[in-house]
Amino acid sequence: MDKMWAGRFVKALDKQADDFNSSIRFDARMYKQDICGSMAHAAMLASQKIIGEDDADAIIEGLEGILNDIEKGTLQIDENAEDIHMFVEALLTERIGDTGKKLHTARSRNDQVAVDIRLYLRDESEEIISGIKSLLEAILAQAKQHKSTIMPGYTHLQRAQPIFFAHHLLAYAMMLTRDIGRIEDAKKRMNLSPLGSCALAGTTYNTNRKMTAEKLGFDGITLNSIDGVSDRDFCIELLSAFATLMMHLSRFSEEIILWSSWEFKFVELDDSYTTGSSIMPQKKNPDIAELVRGKTGRVYGDLMAMLTVLKGLPLAYNKDMQEDKEAIFDAIDTVKQCLNVFPPMIEGMKALPENMLNAAKKGFINATDLADYLTKKGLPFRTSYKISGQAVAYCIEKGKVLDTLSLEEYKAFSDIIGEDVYHAIDLNTCVETRISDGGTGSASIDAQIAFVTEFLNK
Ligand code: ARG
Repeated sequence: MDKMWAGRFVKALDKQADDFNSSIRFDARMYKQDICGSMAHAAMLASQKIIGEDDADAIIEGLEGILNDIEKGTLQIDENAEDIHMFVEALLTERIGDTGKKLHTARSRNDQVAVDIRLYLRDESEEIISGIKSLLEAILAQAKQHKSTIMPGYTHLQRAQPIFFAHHLLAYAMMLTRDIGRIEDAKKRMNLSPLGSCALAGTTYNTNRKMTAEKLGFDGITLNSIDGVSDRDFCIELLSAFATLMMHLSRFSEEIILWSSWEFKFVELDDSYTTGSSIMPQKKNPDIAELVRGKTGRVYGDLMAMLTVLKGLPLAYNKDMQEDKEAIFDAIDTVKQCLNVFPPMIEGMKALPENMLNAAKKGFINATDLADYLTKKGLPFRTSYKISGQAVAYCIEKGKVLDTLSLEEYKAFSDIIGEDVYHAIDLNTCVETRISDGGTGSASIDAQIAFVTEFLNK
């Protein structure tokens, strides 16, 4: 195929160099955004009297035909084309004749590709946000079901204090609301049109950039043409939001993997989201959670790749920037795959409250509550803390737990301890009386559920 830019060349591009240079393999997926961008551009050219109305009509109709044919599956995107922009423009000219050659007036592939990626990422970010919302729904449903399921809360992966399972799950919901916030925030800066920046310096034609921006649903236009064509900050911002989201999914995955082990047995994943072993008949493996944890590394890699490609690039456009697409597309595909499987996995996950409660009964997780009990009876907290520690050491030696010490045994540690100690260190009391805002107490859980519900409804 003759290159559209071949004017000054006497020799054709070497075949291997041509393949190396081509981006159609991965940028073909932006065909719709490319075509819509071109339609808006053609309409603007006519309205500014840069090309005739008839020409613009023919171009727009031709572009519509190409779009329909691709969507219907009757038109294959030619793998030999240099990129999606060249493919669409060449085909347009093939279909409507020389009028097609007017489309590229007052435009460059540099602003064209910049506008295409922004449009593409805008659509994909919406899908990712709705995937995160499905996960929030699944978490919310589990949280509502387990408002009074007691489990041990951990620090250092050591049993620390009793909490409600709902409280633990809602911690992930909070992370996910921030993930959506980060993506929406990145979108605000991304949703400005670079179209009309042309190669780098703007154009001598009397264009109307605001018009194309409005037609394409942008909030406004970029203000510096050099920045317009060379800025990929929005890719980095989105990638870092995706990397953070994946980090959250990975932490959640890690807990699900631990919880479904025989050592914990706090949850059982649905058969449809687990796999067996080819040799060990007893196995039920949490592969989906493990893969999400593994794929997190991939998305971090995509962020690093993007940062590294841009580092040290002089202004304005450089071909290095073609490398932006594979990184951001890979991250989008990966995040979307993870968000397809994660919500139903959470939805089908069965909590095993009895096992959680049994684990909570061991490990002296009410030792803080014993100290608080003594403090409320008048001892300074440090003194109470010491007494509670001594009681724990005594229990360990005798093979007992705080709940089974007799009042006599308690009195030996401090005579201000009375019969009411048993109520104070009862696990139900421990969770219910954590009444501070944001704590595990029921009022806080209700407030968290209300917050997430409202977040999803807005
Ligand atoms: N395929 C190119 C890219 O993705 C399009 C822009 C090409 N611009 C140029 N001046 N060669 O970056």
